[in-house]
Amino acid sequence: MSNDKNHVVIFDTTLRDGEQCPGASMTLEEKLEVADLLDEMGVDVIEAGFPIASNGDFEAVAEIARRTKNAVIAGLARAIPADIARAGEAVRHAKRPRIHTFVSTSPIHLQHQMRKSEAEVIEIITATVAQARNLVDNVEWSAMDATRTPIEYLVRCVDTAIKAGATTINLPDTVGYATPQEYEAMFRQVRERVPGSDKVVFSAHCHDDLGLAVANSLAALAGGARQIECTINGLGERAGNAALEEVVMAIRTRGDVLPYATGIEAGMLTRASKLVSAVTSFPVQYNKAIVGRNAFAHESGIHQDGMLKNNTTYEIMTPESVGVSKTSLVMGKHSGRAAFRDKLKALGYELGENALNDAFARFKDLADRKKVVYDEDIEALVDQEIAAAHD
Ligand code: KIV
Ligand code: ZN
Repeated sequence: MSNDKNHVVIFDTTLRDGEQCPGASMTLEEKLEVADLLDEMGVDVIEAGFPIASNGDFEAVAEIARRTKNAVIAGLARAIPADIARAGEAVRHAKRPRIHTFVSTSPIHLQHQMRKSEAEVIEIITATVAQARNLVDNVEWSAMDATRTPIEYLVRCVDTAIKAGATTINLPDTVGYATPQEYEAMFRQVRERVPGSDKVVFSAHCHDDLGLAVANSLAALAGGARQIECTINGLGERAGNAALEEVVMAIRTRGDVLPYATGIEAGMLTRASKLVSAVTSFPVQYNKAIVGRNAFAHESGIHQDGMLKNNTTYEIMTPESVGVSKTSLVMGKHSGRAAFRDKLKALGYELGENALNDAFARFKDLADRKKVVYDEDIEALVDQEIAAAHD
């Protein structure tokens, strides 16, 4: 992990928050495969699971801790002594272990879920962060539902966690409620008001209930956060978490307005997306940014014409940069003559102008009837055209 002040720590929680997504559970072998790929890809912190949740989760975290070469391995723990002890035990063999402990701070959670007073929660923070810090040097503390917590109380909680020894402070948008402006302001205010803020790393953890998880995560960087918690394919509770591939490529593509860097090998993003989709059986939506099947596919005639002239006309990043072999010009009813001619060339046909016009007209008729026109359809159509010309 570099010490550069603009380095963004990528904290992947696919194996923890991602796995909490209904129906996305993974076997031990699948988790190991995902963890190995995340490590190879340059993820800084892998949240490997929630060790107290089950013996299987404990084993997975412990095995990932033993075998991971580079990344910090985090185990999640509620603010409960038994949870923290179990997480400490699970990450014990990691080269770089972290305990991630959290407690709710919002009035809604304190009243309805925890049934504790603000003062009681402050005491819990002191005791549990100190317990974790006795087990490992690297302790992350999270204020669950931070974005619905009054700023005065949030400042007190963060101050308490830092004094008790937390080294990373995470302020999650647990219910995906914040807007980018609010989320940025929250980080700015907390960092300005809590002494010692410059000695810890602030972290963003965003859920996508309003479709703002990535925008909020990037806004947090402007407010001084330098860790983003995210998942492959945006997998996670309810509408999911911020998508790792989107965070990484936004920073990489828009360095002019997002002057940060990550250590992620972006060329591995598509592989990671396919692996997580396969092991969870969660399909990736076709139009998903960066890793969706259509992310580098063009059907409209105007776009295809532009792409054939210069690929910067309709692509802001190259498919190769995220591990896709090439742009695809999909043949359909919106395709134009230029793409059709290009496709024929790729299929090995050179038609004269008249034959090309006839074949194109027949292709358009066919495309009106079929959703997708395959190469074989075009070959059949052109072969008929050639045969007719010889009759
Ligand atoms: O969304 C959330 O608040 C969490 C915490 C456990 C960090 O996942
Ligand atoms: Zn979460």
